[in-house]
Amino acid sequence: MTADPQASTVNPPGGVGLSGLREAAQGCRGCELWEPATQAVFGAGPETARIVFVGEQPGDQEDLRGEPFVGPAGRLLDRALADSGIDRGDAYVTNAVKHFRFRPTPKRRLHVSPGAEHIAACRPWLDAELALLAPEIVVCLGAVAAKALIAPSFRITKDRGRLLPRPSALGDEEAGVQQSWLMATTHPSAILRTPDEERAAAYDALVADLRVAASALA
Ligand code: URA
Repeated sequence: MTADPQASTVNPPGGVGLSGLREAAQGCRGCELWEPATQAVFGAGPETARIVFVGEQPGDQEDLRGEPFVGPAGRLLDRALADSGIDRGDAYVTNAVKHFRFRPTPKRRLHVSPGAEHIAACRPWLDAELALLAPEIVVCLGAVAAKALIAPSFRITKDRGRLLPRPSALGDEEAGVQQSWLMATTHPSAILRTPDEERAAAYDALVADLRVAASALA
């Protein structure tokens, strides 16, 4: 699938809050991914969240349920958040791309990574979420989010777990945020794909990174 050059970019409306954005995102035709997907999966969590997690795109279960990180990767994320002392109820969880990109097969829908055009088309929605939330820290889960939000050259293996100053963003001043941070760590799905004998160490490394993220909130 390639981006549809005829697709209209829908700009997120202003002044509507997160629930208004969530509703408006259902009408987004900024790229062609909306068509085969069940629905747009917008971020979830309280408007007061001080920490935001950004994944890649919804998976099969997220597409069906309309909520981010509720499938196997979400369950691993929940466990890692609990082990690092972060309450998921206090966090906002979202994705760089709001529609599930997949290849249908007779048995199941296979995940296909979003292209640069999908990430760019969806970016106004992510920016609108971040501007409303004005979080103290944004944690990128995996390379897609890290390359979009930190730098295209960002390497998870090399640069993970480090707190990087986040350029001041729209909404920060109003929310009284003096300094906000960016950080990237492994995507929970990558841990699920790690060979058995290395999975416990990969999980521990994720929890260690999340503890660093939690320390930025102290
Ligand atoms: N993987 C993601 O990046 N996001 C989800 O919501 C689920 C799986």
